[in-house]
Amino acid sequence: MLYRAIFEFALSRLDAEQAHEKVLSLLDRLGRRPLALDRLQRRYRRSDPRLSCSIAGLDFAHPLGLAAGWDKDARAVDALMALGFSHIEVGTVCLRPQPGNPKPRMWRAKKQRALINALGFPSQGVEPVVVRLSRPRSLPAIVGVNIGKNRSTPLEAAAADYRALAVLLAPVADYFTINVSSPNTPGLRDLQRVEQLVELIDAVQAIWRTTAALPKRPIFVKLAPDLDDIELVEIAKLCLERRVDGIVATNTTIDRQWIPAQLAAHPGGVSGAPLRARAEAVVRLLYRATDGKLPIIGVGGIASAEDVVRRVRLGARLVQAYSGFIYGGPGFVRQVITDLGKIADRQGWCRLEEILGADA
Ligand SMILES: Cc1cc2nc3c(=O)[nH]c(=O)nc-3n(C[C@H](O)[C@H](O)[C@H](O)COP(=O)(O)O)c2cc1C
Repeated sequence: MLYRAIFEFALSRLDAEQAHEKVLSLLDRLGRRPLALDRLQRRYRRSDPRLSCSIAGLDFAHPLGLAAGWDKDARAVDALMALGFSHIEVGTVCLRPQPGNPKPRMWRAKKQRALINALGFPSQGVEPVVVRLSRPRSLPAIVGVNIGKNRSTPLEAAAADYRALAVLLAPVADYFTINVSSPNTPGLRDLQRVEQLVELIDAVQAIWRTTAALPKRPIFVKLAPDLDDIELVEIAKLCLERRVDGIVATNTTIDRQWIPAQLAAHPGGVSGAPLRARAEAVVRLLYRATDGKLPIIGVGGIASAEDVVRRVRLGARLVQAYSGFIYGGPGFVRQVITDLGKIADRQGWCRLEEILGADA
């Protein structure tokens, strides 16, 4: 209730990116104060043993994590964990600092519970992220790092960016997501072509053969919802063959069909409720194409416990949200976890994985 009032009367009157920056710096400050963190945690963190899950050797308290892009430079990991997420995917982190696209570059479609963004990977570069993630954490956290190439890096040299990022971040990241699906970096999505993607995956995996001292980390690949079904199946098979640890499905869409005409003219990717149906279909397709053997992290339009249950029944082992958190506010995760408990009571399952793939 309180967040709704603050959102309606203060945050939503600001430009979307300015509002985001205000909330991020507030969480950054709160995260440095042990008392504030403790209060946040007691108010918002909930647990339920029926919801715990494991993928790629990582144990998650529950399936709901924060999707990439919210905390690009790993500034507020402690406070975000205190708000209850089971994991935070920071990034997209680029090797060198870059400003991203000119502003304004982020818009809300409130009625549609959607966002449009054309940020283009504003990034402080990898160094400050390594420093922040090296500090001791106040709360146990699973922190994945989503990595992407700099805009100035030609596509032919992209593998070297991803490889260097993985080398620098392996000591401090719990997993990596190779991002080849953001629509705002020219050419990036071309890296989803099987012959390009295989090169990237091999380049990242090679770091563990050539540098024995680096801790081994799971690798996920994040895909666009705008790939057609044949392309998606081809990529899923490649990921299985190359022993990738999971697929993050999906990034934002360039499809404008559910967005009001005056907003549809903005460039960039659409997220939130309009993406839900396609993101669900992609999860089902990937689950079927891989016989459930490749873990899927479902992203796109997750805004409630019902959305989580549906995504798991279609084949996702974990889920992430971005837009649902913007519109749901600080109590978002608490609400979803509490409601998941009620659904489990009603439906009589003892572990979330019992319903995995039930509707695929
Ligand atoms: C403003 C904004 C910035 C984003 N930045 C990134 C990013 O840097 N890297 C990435 O992989 N995805 C990024 N995303 C995509 C989200 O991680 C997520 O895949 C997408 O928003 C769909 O989830 P949602 O419907 O819960 O928002 C961004 C999304 C938004 C709205």
